[in-house]
Amino acid sequence: MTAALIGQPVSRVDGRRKVTGAATYAAEFEVPDLAHAAVVRSTIANGRVASIDSAAAEQAAGVLAVLTHRNAPRLVYREHKGVPDAATGERLHVLQDNRITHQGQPIAVVIADKLEQAVHAATMVRVTYAPEGAITDVTEVEPVLPADQSSPWEVRRGDPETVLGQAEVKIDQSYVIPRENHNPIEMHATVAAWDGDSLTLWDKTQWVHNTADEIAAVFGIPPENIRVVSPFVGGAFGSGLRCWPHVTLAALGARVAGRPVKLMLSRREMYYSVGFRPHTVQRVALGASRDGRLTAIVHEGHQETSTYEEFTEALLNATRFLHSCPNVYTRHRIAPMNMHTPTYMRAPGEASGIFALESAMDELAVALNVDPVELRLRNEPEQDEFQNLPFSSRSTRQCYKAAAERFGWSQRNPEPRSMRKGRLLIGWGMASATYGAGRAPASAKARLLPDGTAEVTSAASDMGPGTWTSMTQVAAETLGLPIERVSFTLGDTRLPRAAIHGGSITMASVGSAVQAACRQARDEVLQRGGANDLSEALAHIGQPVEATVQATPGDETKRFSMHAFGAVFVEVAVDPDLGETRVRRIVGAYGAGRIVNPKTARSQCIGGMIGGIGMALMEHSIVDPRNGRVANANFAEYAVPVHADAPPMMDVTFVDEHDPHVNPLGVKGLGEIALVGVAPAIANAVFHATGKRIRELPITPDKLL
Ligand code: MOS
Repeated sequence: MTAALIGQPVSRVDGRRKVTGAATYAAEFEVPDLAHAAVVRSTIANGRVASIDSAAAEQAAGVLAVLTHRNAPRLVYREHKGVPDAATGERLHVLQDNRITHQGQPIAVVIADKLEQAVHAATMVRVTYAPEGAITDVTEVEPVLPADQSSPWEVRRGDPETVLGQAEVKIDQSYVIPRENHNPIEMHATVAAWDGDSLTLWDKTQWVHNTADEIAAVFGIPPENIRVVSPFVGGAFGSGLRCWPHVTLAALGARVAGRPVKLMLSRREMYYSVGFRPHTVQRVALGASRDGRLTAIVHEGHQETSTYEEFTEALLNATRFLHSCPNVYTRHRIAPMNMHTPTYMRAPGEASGIFALESAMDELAVALNVDPVELRLRNEPEQDEFQNLPFSSRSTRQCYKAAAERFGWSQRNPEPRSMRKGRLLIGWGMASATYGAGRAPASAKARLLPDGTAEVTSAASDMGPGTWTSMTQVAAETLGLPIERVSFTLGDTRLPRAAIHGGSITMASVGSAVQAACRQARDEVLQRGGANDLSEALAHIGQPVEATVQATPGDETKRFSMHAFGAVFVEVAVDPDLGETRVRRIVGAYGAGRIVNPKTARSQCIGGMIGGIGMALMEHSIVDPRNGRVANANFAEYAVPVHADAPPMMDVTFVDEHDPHVNPLGVKGLGEIALVGVAPAIANAVFHATGKRIRELPITPDKLL
C-alpha cells in the first residue's frame, strides 16, 4: 500500500520545469514561419473613426497586412455566452465598423514579418476621429439596476429602514474602491495558426474550451476545428477567464496573412484589453442594540461597467449571510460608462463588498466599545438567514479563535494610537472572510498502462494554485500508486472538458472528476486482472485500461449553503510623519474543508495576503476623466506589492473541517478567500494605529497626513 497523498505537502510536480524555463508559456511556442501582430488602438473614448489611412503602413518593411474596419473580413459573431461572459449585452466586435466605445479599443492590426516591423508600421496608420462626449467618471453616472434577471439585485428581509431609524447605535458610511487591474507577470498572448479550416491557438487562458467555443462562434466554424493549448499560465487572477478580442485579432491576422501570427499584449495594453476590477461605491448602514446585536443592515453598491455589456459580480451577496441580522436590505446597481468591460478579479465581488462590510463592523465595534472579535461572535448566525438553509459547515468561531491566539490579540489595547514602537504607530485590526464553495461539471480520463503507470488528463488550467500537483496527488492516492508513477496533464482542448479555472472551483470540480475516473479505471483493472494489487493486475491484463468520467454536482446547493470562512488579523506600523503604512504581520485562519496540499494551499493564502496589501495600500488605476486613459498603465506607476512589501510574518492556519456535503473530496477552494478580508483588516489596523478611518482605498500617505 502507498501512503496517503491527499493532505501531504507535495512539492510542485512542475516546479523544476518552471524554474529552469522548460515550461512553455503562450508567447513562447515556436511555430515555423511565425509573423507578428501589433494593434492600433483608439485614442478617444467615444465616437467614430472618421478616416483611417493605412497606405504608408502597408508599404513599410516587412508588413504583410494591415486590417481595419474597412478591409477586415466580416466575422459571424454567433451568440456565445460562456460562464465568464457578461449575462446581458453583446461583446465587442473587432474591426467590423467604425464605432468606438472606449479608449484603447482596437481599430487596426498590423501583421509583419518581425515584431519590430509590426510595431513600427502600427505608428504609421493615420486616424482621424469624430469624437462624441464620453462618460468616464463614475460619479457622473446615475446607477441603474442591471437588466439581467438571473440574479436578485435588490433583496430585503424584515424592515431594515425602520429598524435602522430606531437603532440604539448606528453606523452609516460610504466606502470607495478604485479600479484595479490584473497584473500577472505573464502578459496575455496568443499564437494563432490555421491549417485550412482548422485553427490552433496557443493562448494564455483559464479555460481552453471556452476560448475554443468563443472563437468558433466568432468565426462561424465548429469548435471541434479549434485546438487551444495552454499548459502554463503565469498568473491571471481572472483576466484569463474570458476569451478577449485580442485572440480574435490574432486568428484574423493569421487568416489574412496566411501565416501563423503571434500577438502579445504589452503591459500598457493589458489595461485596455483583459478586464479589471471595477471601481465600486458602496454605502453600509448598520443598526445595533447597545449589547452589540445587529438589528439592521443596509448595503448598497454600484460598480462601473461598459456601455455594451453589463458586468456584475457578487458585491453584496456575503452581506446577506455573513452575520446574523433580522432586517437586511441590499441593492446592487451598475454605472455604464465608456470603458472596456470589467471582469472578475480575484474574489470578485466579495473582496470589494466585504471591505465595506467589515470596515463598517469595525466602526460599529468602536461605537459600541466592544472588541471586534466579540462583536462578530455575538452576531454569529446559526444558519444562512438569506437562503434559510443550514451551512454545510461553518468554522468561523474556530477561525477567530485560532487566528486570535496565534496573533496574540488578547494583548491589544483597544484605544487608537495607544500602541507604539519607537516613533511608529502600531495598529492591530481584523476582519472576517468568506467565499462560496462552488462546483461545476468536469471530466477527466485515467489511462492505466501495463507497466504500472498511469496517465491522467483533464483540460483544466493552472494559473498558479498548483493544479498540476494537486490533481497528481488525488490521482495517485485514488489509484494507490506511488506519485512518481502517475502523470497528470492539463491545458489542451484535446483532453476531456474541465470546468472553468476560476471562482475557486477547480479542486472541487476537476478533483472530483479525477477521483471518479481513477476509481473507475482502478475498479475495472482489479476486476479484469484478477488480482488485489493494481500493478500486478495491469501486468496481467497486458494492455492499457481507460476510463473517462464526467463528475457533476448533485442537489447539495438546494440543501446547504456552502462557503469557506476565515478570519484575518493584521499588524501595521504607520509612520506619523510620513503617513507611510507598512504591514508587519498577517495571521489568517481558514475553514476551507479538506486541504489537499498544505504547501501549495499556504502558498495560495500568502499570495492572497500580499494581494490584499496591494488592494489596501497601493493598487489604483488612475483614469483620466477627459479621455478615459489609464494614466498609470505601467509597473512604474501602478504600484503592486514587491518582496520588500511582504511582511516577514504571514501565518496561515487551516482549521480542521470535515464537510461531507460539499463535494466528494470535501474541499472548498482557497484562491479567492485568501484575498477576502485582508484589505479591511489592514484598514481597521490603520484606524487602530492612527485614529483615522480611511474609507477610500488605497490607503496612501496623503490620506493619513
Ligand atoms: Mo478568479 S477571479 O475566478 O480567476
